[in-house]
Amino acid sequence: MPLSQRSTLTQFLIEERRRFPDASGDFNALILDVALACKAIARAVAFGELGGLMGNHVVAAATGTSGASAAAGSINVQGEVQKKLDVISNEMFLRANEWGGHLAGMASEEMEEPYSIPASFPRGKYLLVFDPLDGSSNIDVNVSVGSIFSVLRAPADVAQGTRKLTVQDFLQPGSQQVAAGYAIYGPTTMLMLTVGSGVHGFTLDPNLGEFKLTHPDVMIPAETQEFAINASNSRFWEPPVKRYVDECLAGKTGPRGKDFNMRWIASMVAEAHRILMRGGVFMYPRDTKDPSKPGRLRLLYEANPIGMVMEQAGGRASTGRGPVLKIQPDGLHQRIGLVFGSKHEVERIERYHDEPLPLKKADFETPLFAERSLFRD
Ligand code: AHG
Ligand code: MN
Ligand code: MN
Repeated sequence: MPLSQRSTLTQFLIEERRRFPDASGDFNALILDVALACKAIARAVAFGELGGLMGNHVVAAATGTSGASAAAGSINVQGEVQKKLDVISNEMFLRANEWGGHLAGMASEEMEEPYSIPASFPRGKYLLVFDPLDGSSNIDVNVSVGSIFSVLRAPADVAQGTRKLTVQDFLQPGSQQVAAGYAIYGPTTMLMLTVGSGVHGFTLDPNLGEFKLTHPDVMIPAETQEFAINASNSRFWEPPVKRYVDECLAGKTGPRGKDFNMRWIASMVAEAHRILMRGGVFMYPRDTKDPSKPGRLRLLYEANPIGMVMEQAGGRASTGRGPVLKIQPDGLHQRIGLVFGSKHEVERIERYHDEPLPLKKADFETPLFAERSLFRD
């Protein structure tokens, strides 16, 4: 279909809204504001090491500042570009979403505490939680990064402004998300969105600056021959994860009877996108590396939104032990073990967590777990 005839994100949202005649339009306006923040971040990211030339107008338009301080100096100091882009992206989310009257508050990876809507703007009935720039360590190697977002309902008294926003208001299980998604800044910029009726993918048309629906109703294949895990952590993995990976590595002649591919981009949005497009399984499981951190990824703005996208696309998202979307959060920046992707593989990993190891200790001296395992202790 010619790009000009594809529906835009705006048209998609209006058509979705027609299914709910009582809807106020606040939700659509919120998603469009999120999309605007993502477009601004896509532009900022595109400047890379030329960050100092980003154009103050790009920063200013989205952050409401002169742009000078945010852009200046970002090319000179090693490592500064990434840090500044995290901060700039956070500002872009705040400025694009605080004014519209749809939100009662925001929370982000980049802010220790929740962000209350300034008194000069009206409050609304939603909460927005986001990771403004995921995978930002990849910026300096020019690998895809992204933004992740989650929309929750605000408690009525906070929405009406009769009670102050608290951390507690954000501590809702992922199953209560109204919408979730991510933008990926790769060779093309895409927005993958779920409002609870499947996952739909939009590609940014650089000529029009509009997101166009290019991937309606994305479905993840239930079977896969590709897995993603940071293998440098293998000595910290729990036995069920070791077992799963060893079985994948054993390939055709192992218990799985087929060869697997392995991938690790270290940019979760990029891994999630690959899995949405062609299947696969992603694991950043709970491990024993740092007992104070039950996993690497954050529940509220990484695991929950990606989890909702996965489940809405027919995949599964799990802590390894059960559905991630059922977890009752206990902190804004809480970390969690995360496994997601093709349904049957995630279910298999959950099963391995339930089952005792099928082999006795002596069996670990067999070729499969000794000589042939890359990841043995
Ligand atoms: P962020 O850039 O928001 O801190 O998140 C990075 C995350 C995630 O995108 C990725 O999967 C993971 O960290 C990579 O971790 P390792 O460096 O341990 O591989
Ligand atoms: Mn992240
Ligand atoms: Mn981040």
